[in-house]
Amino acid sequence: MFTKLTFHQQFDLIKKQVNDLLKKHIRCIKVIDSDLINTIQYVVFGGKRIRSFFVYSIGNMLDVSHNQMSRIAASVECIHVYSLIHDDLPSMDNDDIRRGEKSCHVVFGEANAILAGNALQSLAFEILLDLNGKTIDHENHLQIIRELAIASGINGICMGQSLDISENNAGKMNIKALNAIYYYKTVSLIKAAIRMSFYASQYQHEKNLIHILDDFSKNVGLLFQLSDDLIDLEKDQSNLQKSKKITYPILVGLNESKEFGHRLYKEAMRKIYLVEERYGFNVDMLYNITKFIFQWKNEFQYKLE
Ligand code: IPE
Ligand code: IPE
Ligand code: MG
Ligand code: MG
Repeated sequence: MFTKLTFHQQFDLIKKQVNDLLKKHIRCIKVIDSDLINTIQYVVFGGKRIRSFFVYSIGNMLDVSHNQMSRIAASVECIHVYSLIHDDLPSMDNDDIRRGEKSCHVVFGEANAILAGNALQSLAFEILLDLNGKTIDHENHLQIIRELAIASGINGICMGQSLDISENNAGKMNIKALNAIYYYKTVSLIKAAIRMSFYASQYQHEKNLIHILDDFSKNVGLLFQLSDDLIDLEKDQSNLQKSKKITYPILVGLNESKEFGHRLYKEAMRKIYLVEERYGFNVDMLYNITKFIFQWKNEFQYKLE
């Protein structure tokens, strides 16, 4: 089905399937006018759905059903949105703007923002618990849940966010520390999204495939965070100064960052070709999303000066 659509149509369909599922879960709640629900609704339907696209790229390649892909993607987006709400809080990045709009805590207050984040984290696992189907046995169902749990906690986002704050406060940021931060705070969830789709498929015994996909995740995940840093640097100098965060381009300069981006892109592409070559799968979606991240909005970002 996806193969007949353009890249943008694929994005639209993914967004629709994920948002429809999220709407169902949020609508189930009986209290109509609740600050918590209003806060969640304010943020949960926005976003590019990049992580969802990864879920669908792998799912489509490995014949996972739409129902299962949308469930996995929605759960990953819940964790992602929760991490963004908390990331913007005054005690963290202290950002008043998210996706061009006022941040959650600015509109609904800190308490509601914290609670919305907590509720979304729980909702992610609630959605995953209902994941079932012919291809997913009990063991793989648990593995899918385990992947998301790992990516969210002390071996994932929370560790990345904590290191980000402590290393920045200590004022001793270096490349090694930054790579670790990026790995935990950004790569881990992208890697989990890809692994979750893999474990939902009939190819879950292909150990070599998961190794190649993990390598791909590391490269494309770092590329994604690097692109985000470059965009921040271009468009939002004031916010950047306020948060005083050291990012890759600030630490090593623009040109070295772009060179690093080129290397990551090439490496990610190499892994995609390897999957195509070894397994004969249709890798078009994976290829297109990787290219999109590399060129993200403004191609000039990666042009070396
Ligand atoms: C922003 O992620 C935070 C990073 C890890 C770079 P996205 O750029 O995917 O956020 P939305 O959901 O599309 O706004
Ligand atoms: C956000 O990283 C990563 C997570 C929320 C886990 P950043 O702080 O660099 O992302 P933006 O720029 O606020 O989106
Ligand atoms: Mg941050
Ligand atoms: Mg931030």
